[in-house]
Amino acid sequence: MAKSKNCHALPLLLALILFFTLLGTSHAGGIAIYWGQNGNEGTLSEACATGKYTHINIAFLNKFGNGQTPEMNLAGHCNPATNSCTKFSSEIKDCQSKGIKVLLSIGGGIGSYTLASVEDARNVSTFLWNTFLGGKSSSSSRPLGDAVLDGIDFDIELGSTQNYEHLARFLKAYSGVGGKRVYLGAAPQCPIPDRFLGTALNTGLFDFVWVQFYNNPPCQYANGNITNLVSSWNRWTSTVPAGKIFLGLPADPAAAGSGFIPADTLTSEILPVIKESPKYGGVMLWSRFFDVQNGYSTSIIGSV
Ligand SMILES: *[C@@H]1O[C@H](CO)[C@@H](O)[C@H](O)[C@H]1NC(C)=O
Ligand SMILES: *[C@@H]1O[C@H](CO)[C@@H](O)[C@H](O)[C@H]1NC(C)=O
Repeated sequence: MAKSKNCHALPLLLALILFFTLLGTSHAGGIAIYWGQNGNEGTLSEACATGKYTHINIAFLNKFGNGQTPEMNLAGHCNPATNSCTKFSSEIKDCQSKGIKVLLSIGGGIGSYTLASVEDARNVSTFLWNTFLGGKSSSSSRPLGDAVLDGIDFDIELGSTQNYEHLARFLKAYSGVGGKRVYLGAAPQCPIPDRFLGTALNTGLFDFVWVQFYNNPPCQYANGNITNLVSSWNRWTSTVPAGKIFLGLPADPAAAGSGFIPADTLTSEILPVIKESPKYGGVMLWSRFFDVQNGYSTSIIGSV
């Protein structure tokens, strides 16, 4: 009796698994967060210890290109000019030991950056490789110490629109050198094509594209209406070649001019729809500071 019962149970179980797999092809994702632009958001190690984040973008290297000496700005966290940001080296390694990818974000809303030519893009790529990735340079010329970051995130919002595709190619050419992959991330605005990053994204070289679905009324959530956001998401996931696409959102109403989505709306109405795409990578939040204030990642993580 017992034997024949087991014989029937297995095919039934397999049929059920198949049924639910076909019914809900939804994909699990992670939460990417920007850290670095507010001295009151806590340390990198604290952010990583929450267990909420899979990707951290250290923001920003906001001066580079056109022959300028590159500069990093981490607000009140530390001062690159006095080399006090090297204290984050061990924290970066600590985050990486938890499986979290740590990228350096270049650009941002305030700064002085541009790529004047292909040669300029090559020089910036060499600088990034030697200063933040697996290249060679003395510890004192590495603002984040000897930690080897997982990649570079492009958050290009000003300056020239040119040559970012070359920077992406030069950086990706370092992937695997010394045995470590170089990941590329990008934070375009949701209107397609992004003015600064459209050409670079079309190279197909980007692993993570966290689209800013905020401060952009034509393609964001507004007043309970998810139509514009979902149709924009569908265009991103069907037309832009990229490894994974993330839904970029403000972690708090105060984090952006517009586009904040209440957590319950996100989890009940939006995530179930966008997770159907195999390109879905998760949610990106601006920023760690606002996430600490609002607890947004805590509210959504069970559904991401
Ligand atoms: C690129 O770097 C080389 C070598 O350091 C330098 O001679 C050249 O002027 C740089 N080009 C630009 C555009 O900054
Ligand atoms: C939601 O927005 C779309 C696009 O702007 C519009 O066509 C539609 O009527 C809106 N739906 C509601 C319920 O307001």
